[in-house]
Amino acid sequence: MKSTVKLLGILMLLAGVILAGCGKSSTNQTGGKDTAAAGKKTLRVVTDAAYAPFEYMKGDKIVGFDVDFIQAVVKEAGYKAEVVHVGWDPLFVELENKRADLGISSITINDERKQTYDFSHPYFLSTNKILVPKNSPVTSAEDLKNKVVAVQNGTTGQEAVEKMFGKNNKNLKKFENNNLAIMELNSGGAAAVVADNAVVEVYAKNNPEKKLKVIEDSKNFAIEFYGLAFPKGSKLRPELDKAVEKVLKNGTYEKIYKKWFGRMPDINKLKEQQ
Ligand code: ARG
Repeated sequence: MKSTVKLLGILMLLAGVILAGCGKSSTNQTGGKDTAAAGKKTLRVVTDAAYAPFEYMKGDKIVGFDVDFIQAVVKEAGYKAEVVHVGWDPLFVELENKRADLGISSITINDERKQTYDFSHPYFLSTNKILVPKNSPVTSAEDLKNKVVAVQNGTTGQEAVEKMFGKNNKNLKKFENNNLAIMELNSGGAAAVVADNAVVEVYAKNNPEKKLKVIEDSKNFAIEFYGLAFPKGSKLRPELDKAVEKVLKNGTYEKIYKKWFGRMPDINKLKEQQ
């Protein structure tokens, strides 16, 4: 009798160990979790949620165009997504170390980044613009010469200004996120912010008391396209690219765009890039 109980005990222990092992294997190498019950994997999506209206904090929730877009894309592909705010520089570190499945953060697709990450089809058309006080004499990027310009570190905004006035030029103030760059402008510590058009336009419009205006310079600031960024060699990318195509085609993209920008997007420009 006693030995049967003992044996039973050992068997139960063993079962416990085996079950525990199974539990561990449900976390994949890229950090996402398998939700076996729902039959869907939850993807770990990293972002820098300080870039309204694309990704920003509303209370303790991350909201924005990018968030709605990625939720639509992963749903189309049969996944779930957990969008996590990690910050701009850390986002790229996570992708490089394959700790995240993908990043969405208004990330411009460019040759330099393509060497380290894989990108989806372009999903958003953008360009840098200049945010200045309403009474500023600045009318083009050239006018920023010898003026203090605030940018988010490691962005194409920084690159665009450096291209004009040289790397390490002492008038360039670099910040960890774009909100800090705008704060610097508002407190008089900078004469301008250079960042993505939709971001500065929405900010100027939603904060009229700050008395800001946006200057366009299509001669000096190139057209850019945002993409989803993946670790190099990601097997998920081709899968999600199909979903991106669908979302662009079936009206979902237009709906999300309209919700955030109040008008219809130029989808053909995006499709041309596929
Ligand atoms: N589009 C620019 C770039 O890729 C800026 C993106 C910044 N995104 C953000 N969430 N702060 O460099």
